[in-house]
Amino acid sequence: MRAIPTERGTCPFDPPAGMADEPLGKVRLANGDHVWLVARHDLVRQVLADTRFSSEIEGGFLGSPLRAVEPDAGMFIQMDPPRHTRLRRLMTGRFTVQRMNKLRPRVEQIVTDTLDALERRPRPADLVEHFALPIPSLVICELLGVPYAEREEFQEAGARLLSLTSTVEEQEATLMRFAGYLAGLIDRKRAEPGEGLLDDLLDTDLSDDELIGISVLMLVAGHETTANMLSLGTLLLLRHPGQLALVRQSPDAARTAVDELLRYLSIVDVGMFRRASADMELGGQVIPEGDFVTCSLAAANRDPALVDRPDELDVTRPKSPHVAFGFGPHQCLGQNLARMEMEIAYPALFRRLPELRLAVPLAEVPFKNDMAIYGVHRLEVEW
Ligand code: HEM
Repeated sequence: MRAIPTERGTCPFDPPAGMADEPLGKVRLANGDHVWLVARHDLVRQVLADTRFSSEIEGGFLGSPLRAVEPDAGMFIQMDPPRHTRLRRLMTGRFTVQRMNKLRPRVEQIVTDTLDALERRPRPADLVEHFALPIPSLVICELLGVPYAEREEFQEAGARLLSLTSTVEEQEATLMRFAGYLAGLIDRKRAEPGEGLLDDLLDTDLSDDELIGISVLMLVAGHETTANMLSLGTLLLLRHPGQLALVRQSPDAARTAVDELLRYLSIVDVGMFRRASADMELGGQVIPEGDFVTCSLAAANRDPALVDRPDELDVTRPKSPHVAFGFGPHQCLGQNLARMEMEIAYPALFRRLPELRLAVPLAEVPFKNDMAIYGVHRLEVEW
């Protein structure tokens, strides 16, 4: 029986080998659980669109068994309707394309300032620490109204919560500490309101525990994912100079490229667990009530039924209905923001540093096979 999580194969940009061998089949998790792995684009969308495949679960990685749970307050990624609907509705209007476009000049300024600082650094420099991580961290701090000087609180917590090698106890302790920090931040905001999204949420019917849960979710989801796309996407483009030249050329080319990079890299892959809350029919198979299912977004995004030549990177490809941001009611809340950050950051980097190159052999790049979200830990570059 196949086992997951699996390291990405001989090519670090491809899905793990064997992931798409069967569209639907049983796999073994490191904790011994057996779950259904869904690896075909249409079936993945079917699972993610249907909330009878419940998100109210925890476990799967880190040796902890998958089980149905009452979700923690505010953690709407782990909720089914109607709990999910109430919180998601509160947030959706704040993340529309129009709202994000208002942020565009500020994101452009953040990218320019980050590149100014990077250019002054001794070479080689780590592109993760000095480019990919600061940009989404600064943006999410401004958006939420979290002081950037306190970024270690969420960057460290995020890295620990997404690690596949920390223990359950370490994760619980991290979450407690992080929640403590956020409770203090919310108290400070009550005493002295600011201008961020969290300040706005103080005027809603959310409880403090809900506010803390939402903040944990937004801070972790809001920086680590985009940071991984910025660094891994840059590395991929450095290996495809012709495609990189196209991304550098024009904002329109960069806009098209972003969705192809998301599709091709699928940095969120097999952590998308769901639980059948009734007997469910999927691809001619009955998934019995209580069984757990996980979706390989990477396999779905390389499905030949989705695009022609799925294993070829083509940044001029018309936008495809890929599932790198998930699908259905839980589809990524921050996708408009993430797209905008990438559309601005990639071409700005390649224009500012036209001689940008990897400073170490590819084999020495530390890929994040030990994390729930894929990327690189460090990326040493010269220019
Ligand atoms: C390239 C960057 C990103 C990727 C690849 C990504 C991917 C995803 C995926 C696959 C899901 C679906 C999870 C599920 O169905 O269980 C998701 C949900 C979510 N993402 Fe993102 N994300 C990114 C950036 C962001 C950003 C910048 C934010 C914050 C502003 C964010 C906030 C969220 C939230 C709050 C959810 C939960 C939505 C819900 O349950 O209704 N993400 N993301």
